[in-house]
Amino acid sequence: MKETLTIALSKGRIFKETMPLLEAAGIQALDDPETSRKLILDTNHDDVKLVIIRATDVPVYVQYGAADLGVTGKDVLMEHGGEGLYEMLDLKIARCKLMTAGFADKPLPEGQLKVATKFVNCTRNYFAEQGRQIELIKLYGSMELAPIVGLADIIVDVVDTGNTLKANGLVPLEHMADISSRIVVNTASMKTKHQRLSTLLDQLKQAVN
Ligand code: ATP
Ligand code: PRP
Ligand code: MG
Repeated sequence: MKETLTIALSKGRIFKETMPLLEAAGIQALDDPETSRKLILDTNHDDVKLVIIRATDVPVYVQYGAADLGVTGKDVLMEHGGEGLYEMLDLKIARCKLMTAGFADKPLPEGQLKVATKFVNCTRNYFAEQGRQIELIKLYGSMELAPIVGLADIIVDVVDTGNTLKANGLVPLEHMADISSRIVVNTASMKTKHQRLSTLLDQLKQAVN
């Protein structure tokens, strides 16, 4: 019997938008993570499993080889740093932009800017490259609240329609990066399971185009 191929996915938009591509490559999940409490999902192939984890954990599972490959947002990947994995394919799903955002009519302070975000590494690098001093405030979600309650001057978050910013009285300010989801592969798996991975990657590439 063939060695198992383990694919790391997160619930929600990544799972929903990835499954049609995996299905085009002949892989179907036998359970729905939105209704099942299982964290390891079987597929129509005995030797292909899906592990369902938090979005930020996908590069970690792949880095340590707990999954051979995974699907992760470029934002999460930039934040992780990419050690121990290869970024192999842009799936062009879950597209959004990493942006700074704040109030439209409020001038930013002269001195140190207070920036709230869950993307601390991306934010630190972005402002350092521009030689701008910031105070970083790490949050885990609901970033849009931070400027409203005076916790920060601006935020860094992903923006798609802009509806969330608008609903909270904020506007997008600076564009930092275009984001979409990527296939990442464990560097050791790329060698030990090369044939299977390259076949799957070719099928996924065709499904994307
Ligand atoms: P968690 O829910 O575990 O905190 P998360 O909020 O990052 O994680 P998702 O909202 O499913 O998880 O986002 C997964 C990926 O989808 C993100 O890393 C980003 O690349 C992309 N994404 C996030 N929000 C949007 C959006 N509003 N529109 C399009 N793509 C998005
Ligand atoms: C994401 C992100 C923004 C919002 C941007 O949240 O954190 O809040 O989408 O999208 P928009 O520009 O189209 O409004 P998500 O929907 O993933 O909710 P979450 O807080 O559960 O992550
Ligand atoms: Mg989200």
